[in-house]
Amino acid sequence: MNRELRVLTQRYTLALRDYLAGRGEAALQEAYDLGRQALAQGLGVHDLAAIQHRVLVKSLMKRTWNREEASRTLRAVGRFVVESLLPFEMSHRRSQEVNAALRESEERYRSVVDTARDIIFTLSPDARIRSVNPVFETVTGWSRTEWIGRDFLLLVQPDDRPRAAELHRSALEGKMPPVFELGIGAKSGVTIPGEFVATALVQDARIVGVLCVARDITDRKRAEEALRHLNEALEEEVKRIAHALHDEAGQLLASVHIGLAEIARDLPAHGAQRLDNVRALLVKIEEQLRHLSHELRPTILDDLGLLPALEFLADGVSRRTGLQIVIDGSPGRRLSAPTETALYRIVQEALTNVTKHAQATRVTITFMRRGLALICAVRDDGVGFDMPAELARRGRGLGLTGIQERLYAVSGTLDIVATSRGGTQLIITVPVEADSAESDSPRG
Ligand SMILES: Nc1ncnc2c1ncn2[C@@H]1O[C@H](COP(=O)(O)OP(=O)(O)O)[C@@H](O)[C@H]1O
Ligand SMILES: [Mg+2]
Repeated sequence: MNRELRVLTQRYTLALRDYLAGRGEAALQEAYDLGRQALAQGLGVHDLAAIQHRVLVKSLMKRTWNREEASRTLRAVGRFVVESLLPFEMSHRRSQEVNAALRESEERYRSVVDTARDIIFTLSPDARIRSVNPVFETVTGWSRTEWIGRDFLLLVQPDDRPRAAELHRSALEGKMPPVFELGIGAKSGVTIPGEFVATALVQDARIVGVLCVARDITDRKRAEEALRHLNEALEEEVKRIAHALHDEAGQLLASVHIGLAEIARDLPAHGAQRLDNVRALLVKIEEQLRHLSHELRPTILDDLGLLPALEFLADGVSRRTGLQIVIDGSPGRRLSAPTETALYRIVQEALTNVTKHAQATRVTITFMRRGLALICAVRDDGVGFDMPAELARRGRGLGLTGIQERLYAVSGTLDIVATSRGGTQLIITVPVEADSAESDSPRG
């Protein structure tokens, strides 16, 4: 018998003797403490039973009992034994409760995972698929059994594999990679665009794998694509109108000029003088028409890029409205055509809003590059507006909505913030590729 058991046995012997000698509660308390100690030492009910057996045999067999003594002693021994087993009973109950709670929480987790609309799956440290929820089958057409245990990377579109491996690695290192997109090969052969979130799977304070949630973003991609087409169609239409204004209206006005010159020849001097005033007005109209048509679709945007086009726009708005407009910084290299057009249209709408609503005197348009993002801020010193109220207003203007939609199409974002002086600031962020158009040359 080891030392611990021997000590316990001795204590048990003494306590039982005390109890039988009539020490009552104090001895029962000792029995309870003995039970607790046995439990704390990692002994089981079986060990305690063995101790009891040994003690009982030793201490009770030495004597002969009369009937009454025997029955009283047995009852007392029974109570004593029960008391010493109480800690085991309590611990057993508690563990049952904990188990039940655990089971319940597991069931809840299961049902969340099973009914989720996103694919939830876990990967081993070597990127094998360990578990995957049922929606995986609906989205990809694969059956779960076809993929459990297999390399996750094989499910990823070949071009995306190096990046997927990198993200898996960084999640394993406990870093939380930002939301990322990967193409997933469906059973039908189609590539499904997926948006992923990954995080380390932790067990007993150790990273044992990666937990991923993936969402099928086919619909969103389609909507973005449709929006892009719509915007392109809109630009084409605007181009047509701009040409009509510039060329057709311009030609008509030129004919009016010729007509007026002919009339002037037949008029006396003072009549010709008044006609000159009309001509001067006509020239102004022509100029405005030309400017408007350029603003509508500035060929400058295609030929020279965003900055010159915005300078031209700002100049026109300034002259028409008296607003002071400053452009700070530069968008840098040429951006993709859809991004340049979107930014031009957005600044155009922002300036229109300033002249329509802000009662401002000054506008600053600032460009900043931040990593792979270009930030364009349009800030005025006007009256500002209550944005949440405006966003909640029904039948509200199309300007801000249009800005949002143009940004969706180029994966950009819009933040509207009140400026310290009460005016409005629009912060537009668009992704720009590191290797986007290398030069500032005209676009073909
Ligand atoms: N720079 C600004 N200063 C003050 N109010 C603004 C500004 N920009 C937008 N707003 C407010 O937001 C509203 C919505 O703008 P918008 O969507 O462009 O619609 P619209 O210009 O057709 O009214 C405007 O009616 C105006 O109340
Ligand atoms: Mg507007």
